[in-house]
Amino acid sequence: MRTSGPGVKPLDLERSHKMFEATRQVMAGGVGSADRALVEPHPIFIERGAGSRMWDVDGNEYIDYMLGYGPLILGHAHPKIVEAIERQARLGTMYGAGHPLELEVAERLTALMPSMELVRFGQSGTEAVLSAIRVARASTGRSLIVKFEGHYHGWADQVAVSYAPSKSTAGSPRRPTAVPMSEGQPYGTYEDVIVLGWNDIGAVQEVFAERANEIAAVLTEPIAFNYGVIEPEPGFLAGLRQICDESGSLLIFDEVQTGVRVALGGAQALCGISPDLTCMGKAISGGLPVSVVGGRREVMALVSDRRVFQAGTYNSNPLCLAAIPVVLDRLSEPGTYERMESLSRRLRNELQTLIEPIGGYVQGSSTVFGLAFGPGQIRTMREGWRNSTAKIMQLKRVLWNAGVYTKPTPRDIWYLSTEHTEKDIEETLERVADAVALLS
Ligand SMILES: Cc1ncc(COP(=O)(O)O)c(C=O)c1O
Repeated sequence: MRTSGPGVKPLDLERSHKMFEATRQVMAGGVGSADRALVEPHPIFIERGAGSRMWDVDGNEYIDYMLGYGPLILGHAHPKIVEAIERQARLGTMYGAGHPLELEVAERLTALMPSMELVRFGQSGTEAVLSAIRVARASTGRSLIVKFEGHYHGWADQVAVSYAPSKSTAGSPRRPTAVPMSEGQPYGTYEDVIVLGWNDIGAVQEVFAERANEIAAVLTEPIAFNYGVIEPEPGFLAGLRQICDESGSLLIFDEVQTGVRVALGGAQALCGISPDLTCMGKAISGGLPVSVVGGRREVMALVSDRRVFQAGTYNSNPLCLAAIPVVLDRLSEPGTYERMESLSRRLRNELQTLIEPIGGYVQGSSTVFGLAFGPGQIRTMREGWRNSTAKIMQLKRVLWNAGVYTKPTPRDIWYLSTEHTEKDIEETLERVADAVALLS
């Protein structure tokens, strides 16, 4: 497959290649996390990032739309984040005790998201989800969790289920089979997960009619970001809220992707639905490892009372929390979201025009969207089976080579940051036009 040609010169990746070969000898697969291995011709080694761009060890420059898988909403090495971390590092990187920043950040987050009356901090989104599930099970005395096909909630045994099942394993659309993501996940951990199709309120009603008194929680991304950016159908989230209220189950919003990304108050502010528990991570701390689990006071009281054990050596780590006020301040500046949205709209519209002739389309309507090749907008993970994995990966390979960096998975996502500019968009569109010409 050609990744270079007129308009798209082959990149010199010699040092990355050598580094990858050396890394493979000492790190599993030569990468730090599963999907990073999907970059072709081999994973690229990055030396530094600044704003919307990053540079690899061979000196190649990339306009970055992956943003570290989403967190870098203020771009790379934002001067105020660097300053905040440096300041905190001089005061100490951890105390294993309460500190003023913890209070400040908890007060700000609970004010931004009133459904979270009490919070706890962790490092990864996965941890926040696991904490929420534990709280929900303790609170209801029930064990079943309803989750939706295609939604990603982290890599843990209890939730890494039916993220990308194949046609042959997924089971029936109304009653999907719970399919583990990985070898080594024991049946016992995911047998308590009921998988349903997202946006199918009828299927949720049906399951609750049969097993309401066993269901601890419904766990959902309030906007599906993990298979092409899909909005909830009107009334779907309200329907989940009502079903949970009627049955005494808890509603958990996994806002690890959407929290502060789609609005300061997260997706819950946009849809006006209050979950019982919320999980956050990624953009909240602009690239430092922080996650949040929070919820209604009487539910989180289980954690306060130590009946639910929620702990971690690095919880509330001050070095990482130091970035949060900077992110919240920047995002609170008037016009910030509007500007990002306007750049994204232009990029989305023009990308659509460019890739349509080769069978592509853009899915998503916010500062996060994805490209795909197939018959058109999808509403469910199963509709995504119609998309061509080969074609999107082919476009990605050419774009990496052309200096446009996007997530290395067929379920495409592009993220915008406050630091992307009109110039970035123009250059990106030129590079995509060259890539399309090469693929036509
Ligand atoms: C919606 C959602 N929840 C949870 C996670 C897991 O977060 P982490 O990778 O920080 O464990 C992710 C990661 O992409 C996610 O997209």
